Amino acid sequence: MHDEEVTEHPADETLSALPQLGEREMETTLRPSRLSEFIGQPRVREQLELVLESARRRGVPPDHVLLSGPPGLGKTSLAMIVAAELDASIRITSGPALERAGDLAAMLSNLAEGDVLFIDEIHRIARPAEEMLYLAMEDFRVDVVVGKGPGATSIPLEIAPFTLVGATTRSGALTGPLRDRFGFTGQMEFYADHELDQVVRRSAKILDIEIDAEGSAEIARRSRGTPRIANRLLRRVRDYAEVREDGKVTLAVARAALAVYDVDELGLDRLDRAVLSALVHSFGGGPVGVSTLAVAVGEEPTTVEEVCEPYLVRAGMLARTPRGRVATASAWEHLGLRPPPRPDQAGPTLFD
Ligand SMILES: Nc1ncnc2c1ncn2[C@@H]1O[C@H](COP(=O)(O)OP(=O)(O)O)[C@@H](O)[C@H]1O
Ligand SMILES: [Mg+2]
Repeated sequence: MHDEEVTEHPADETLSALPQLGEREMETTLRPSRLSEFIGQPRVREQLELVLESARRRGVPPDHVLLSGPPGLGKTSLAMIVAAELDASIRITSGPALERAGDLAAMLSNLAEGDVLFIDEIHRIARPAEEMLYLAMEDFRVDVVVGKGPGATSIPLEIAPFTLVGATTRSGALTGPLRDRFGFTGQMEFYADHELDQVVRRSAKILDIEIDAEGSAEIARRSRGTPRIANRLLRRVRDYAEVREDGKVTLAVARAALAVYDVDELGLDRLDRAVLSALVHSFGGGPVGVSTLAVAVGEEPTTVEEVCEPYLVRAGMLARTPRGRVATASAWEHLGLRPPPRPDQAGPTLFD
């Protein structure tokens, strides 16, 4: 099974938005279980509330739901919340686990009426399974092919009406026909600092960590807009507070702890920093094409584009222009460098 378990990353990536080895249990403890407990994402939450409530009133399973956005923003949590709010059971699988259409047929035929089927990383589903999914989503039916060659027959199989919840970090990689079959798409956004602050306080309460307002604000500010990172930083700061201090998390304790773990002032992670550094040091601040930039940091262009850039753009460090990626003045400053004069400021202002 290629679910989160095996895509977990080595434990040294304190700032990664991807789940780390052994974090799964902790994530379960900290996961909000109802929509009312889910912090932030006001737009998605309100839309989803309407979709669920209307289905509940009509007594039918709601439309299929696609949740799209960078890692660690709460897609899996929301999928589980959808099931909880519907009082339904949830079956969990992932795109890479559905290699053969038969794998999917087995899952589908085991569904009971009203169940939620959660397919994580749905953009990685294999073609034959994807095609089977079209019919299942539309008509609650699959065609199972029996036999091989000219003698093969296709047997239509009814399946119970269900709700598919798909999650993806790359909605652009979904085929049109698959995307069109979702009645509702929730686009998850990075969290504002005050929302992450609430996430940190909530988690501190659950984990019985004493934290003051400034301590939690500091952790929130440096969590890259991502609840998964906020929860991880909270645990690292708690460790420091317990070992080196009296256990209480204050601003000073949070700062000292985050310095030990080499956490960026602005919450940028290793890849974010590598991209900025390449952009500035190797390409004079740009403009440079995303594929060239990706080669320079040894990553896939899609990873740079879909995992790294959205946050850098939001943080005001990187601009996407028609001619390529450009480092902003704050990016230069963040790397401890003086930004070059902008072309439109040349001339009289050059000697400021
Ligand atoms: N809105 C939220 N409120 C509180 N905690 C959250 C929220 N979103 C995510 N989390 C926390 O972040 C962790 C990662 O969320 P998850 O749903 O696994 O993200 P994704 O599936 O998008 O990668 C969860 O275990 C949960 O503790
Ligand atoms: Mg997930």
